[in-house]
Amino acid sequence: MHIKHHPILGEQLQKQVTIYFKDEPYTAYEQQSVAAALLANDIKQLGVSRNLVQPRGMFCSRGRCCSCYMTVNGEDHVRTCMTKVVDGMKIYPNDGDPQVRSESHGD
Ligand code: FES
Repeated sequence: MHIKHHPILGEQLQKQVTIYFKDEPYTAYEQQSVAAALLANDIKQLGVSRNLVQPRGMFCSRGRCCSCYMTVNGEDHVRTCMTKVVDGMKIYPNDGDPQVRSESHGD
């Protein structure tokens, strides 16, 4: 769910854009962070932990913890809570991260 009108901050959502998570299109709005846009689309799992290969989601929401690392437009380890959406952005969980892949698939 997107909050379109904040009671204190007013209108927050600007232009609508399309982002792609695992090649599926989702609606987002300029100025949203990638993690917030995914959460608004009910996507809570952003990846898996490296050692225990357990689900990870947004934790600190301020660029301090690395829990929201994802692959964005081919770049690994992007802190998605600090990265704003861009129209056409391609986002993947960190499954493609070689270290995570070796833990979960034994590569
Ligand atoms: S949620 Fe902690 S760095 Fe993004």
